[in-house]
Amino acid sequence: MLNVDIPDVINARRMVRSFSGRPLPAGMITKLVSYARAAPSAGNTSGWRAIILEDQDSISSFWQAVTDAEWRTRSRRWNGLSRAPSAVVLLANPKCYTDRYSLPDKISAGLGNPPDGGGEDAWPIPYWYVDAGFAAMLIMLGATDVGLGSLFLGNFRGEPELKRLLGIPEPWRYVGTVLVGYPDGNDYPSSSVRNHPGHNDRIYYGRWGVAEP
Ligand SMILES: Cc1cc2nc3c(=O)[nH]c(=O)nc-3n(C[C@H](O)[C@H](O)[C@H](O)COP(=O)(O)O)c2cc1C
Repeated sequence: MLNVDIPDVINARRMVRSFSGRPLPAGMITKLVSYARAAPSAGNTSGWRAIILEDQDSISSFWQAVTDAEWRTRSRRWNGLSRAPSAVVLLANPKCYTDRYSLPDKISAGLGNPPDGGGEDAWPIPYWYVDAGFAAMLIMLGATDVGLGSLFLGNFRGEPELKRLLGIPEPWRYVGTVLVGYPDGNDYPSSSVRNHPGHNDRIYYGRWGVAEP
């Protein structure tokens, strides 16, 4: 899908869980990840980082860190996932935000570092993860725009192992990974689909629960 409108890209994006092994064109993953720089960010902090993995050894080590052998044997998706030619590991850092909100223009919010602010725990919503999510979304929409598939793989296990592997310092947190590659067309629909609410169950007008204006 090339040169299509934004609504087309938004509606076309679906998580892809089966990739062909075909490598991306040179420079493509860097270009897609650069879109994340345009993501909105609380206080313009942009306390996220992306580590791009493009060679097979790095990607194999990544999988070793975030999955276990039992899962790899059991999952019907493993083969398709393992062929993704690139992986973008996304990280977020609460300290970037408490530091930012310790600066004069933000200090009155009370979200900066102690003793003047309440620190990380004072944040009603941990915007470091929200910002990383916006960043991930732009990478995935960029991938859809050029006919590539992507998957946001959540952090469900292996954070300490991955941090050791990639030399990620404290207090950076592993948020998740965007896999990018060519879809091979053999996708399995997500098991999450059965929990999918209809549109009217998610969008309300004026008041909680009002589905029609
Ligand atoms: C925070 C987050 C974590 C997710 N983690 C995984 C994951 O680990 N593995 C996976 O296959 N899909 C994962 N997904 C994808 C969801 O299953 C998917 O977005 C949802 O089923 C809707 O499908 P769609 O994105 O194709 O429209 C994750 C999505 C989000 C937003």
